[in-house]
Amino acid sequence: MNSKRTILIVDDDRDTRDGLARALSGAYRTVVAADAESAMAALAADPSIALMLSDVRMPGTDGVSLMKAAKAAHPHLAVILLTAYGSIDAAVAAMKDGADDFIAKPVDLDQLELRVEKEMRHADLRNEVKSLHAALDEKYGLEQIVGSSDAMKKVFRTVRQVAPSDATVLLEGPSGTGKEVVAHAIHNLSRRSDGPFVAVHCAALTPTLLESELFGHEKGAFTGAVSRQIGRFEAANGGTLFLDEISEIDPSTQIKLLRVLEDRTFERVGGTETLHTDIRVVAATNRDFKAYVDAGKFREDLYYRLNVVGIKLPPLKDRHGDIPLLAQRFLREYSAKNGDRVKSISPEAMSILEAYPWPGNVRELRNAIEKMVVLAEGERLAPSDVPEEMRAAASLHGTPAARAMPPGGTLSDTEKNRVLAALAANGGNRSRAADALGISRRTIQRKLKEYAIEDSAGEEGS
Ligand SMILES: Nc1ncnc2c1ncn2[C@@H]1O[C@H](COP(=O)(O)OP(=O)(O)OP(=O)(O)O)[C@@H](O)[C@H]1O
Ligand SMILES: [Mg+2]
Repeated sequence: MNSKRTILIVDDDRDTRDGLARALSGAYRTVVAADAESAMAALAADPSIALMLSDVRMPGTDGVSLMKAAKAAHPHLAVILLTAYGSIDAAVAAMKDGADDFIAKPVDLDQLELRVEKEMRHADLRNEVKSLHAALDEKYGLEQIVGSSDAMKKVFRTVRQVAPSDATVLLEGPSGTGKEVVAHAIHNLSRRSDGPFVAVHCAALTPTLLESELFGHEKGAFTGAVSRQIGRFEAANGGTLFLDEISEIDPSTQIKLLRVLEDRTFERVGGTETLHTDIRVVAATNRDFKAYVDAGKFREDLYYRLNVVGIKLPPLKDRHGDIPLLAQRFLREYSAKNGDRVKSISPEAMSILEAYPWPGNVRELRNAIEKMVVLAEGERLAPSDVPEEMRAAASLHGTPAARAMPPGGTLSDTEKNRVLAALAANGGNRSRAADALGISRRTIQRKLKEYAIEDSAGEEGS
């Protein structure tokens, strides 16, 4: 990180060239070129060149044309043009043509390093934002969302239709069904994609903290409010605000939310100034939201404001056809991360995955494939690579391949598998698993101890 960065200096005048190089040689590595052609050659030879400092007026190709060619070939390159002193027109034209900055000649060498340093920092920021965008697009574009089931086709259709508008969208679906990826896709496909995507997990905060998180607060609004703080509604201005676990918002914040959704105005906590924000709202819940509203647990008027366009993400077990596609996608992803050792999934292993009920939905499938890829012995994932509790649960749901596993299992294996299957099918809840098996919770505890199965962190205390 502390190795010097490289600057390319282009000027047909040798004294100027060398003078600039000397002035910058303390902080940077410098490369010099006498004309556009050798400048392009230098850039091609050393792609790590971060900045080009070029004269405008040169025999042959001038500095502006050089800049255009250089930027086209090296989009990350920062360019500062040297313009004749007093030639404001030339300077303005240079900036219009895409120069990042210009310096008037004769160059004030004391100022030079500062100007270059500042431009480097700007360029770094620009490049960082660009690569973040690229990474996000890759992570959250629609092409990253896998599915060929009718349910998912309908989701894609609705996302494409609704994304370009500013309509509020409500995403409903159990945990791990892809609500957050869909929210990102809506943002990325909207005219707001250059603006911020701001997510708030509404269940994670106490009502007071949530209110100030959403709307911000003025200094002294409450104990601990030592300075003014802008809220997520302000931070998301020009972009999309994603309200995750919306059902968990307390009644007084619901009223405030209703108002922002109606006219996009609000006040910071402890403030009197009415603020306006330009946002698109996407909300998500893993509850049966309508039933929750009907039970009086959430304001009905707010529910209708949120549910302008509703998108339902069905549990994975209701779209079996997507399981192989998702499994293949995750296999490729994790195999690439683990040295490309694992190439495929055997049909037998796949049929186990298809039979398993996936209470944790796509997230659980993703995690399972990762684990299988990391632990696999061969190039092809076999039934024996499928985690045991999944094989057991799948056998309960009746796949022949799973039922055949393990071959010649002993009586206690069978019992163990049934217990594990019941646990898996009940999301790890021991009481419900015990009910399903017709045994007491104490018996299931004892069995688990016998099988030397650890208490998992997610186990409920009941
Ligand atoms: N259709 C899909 N294609 C590819 N990956 C998916 C799909 N659906 C979900 N995933 C992946 O599954 C994981 C869980 O998805 P996500 O976080 O969007 O779920 P969620 O519905 O928001 O869950 P929760 O309610 O628990 O927050 C993520 O890693 C996501 O990338
Ligand atoms: Mg989520």
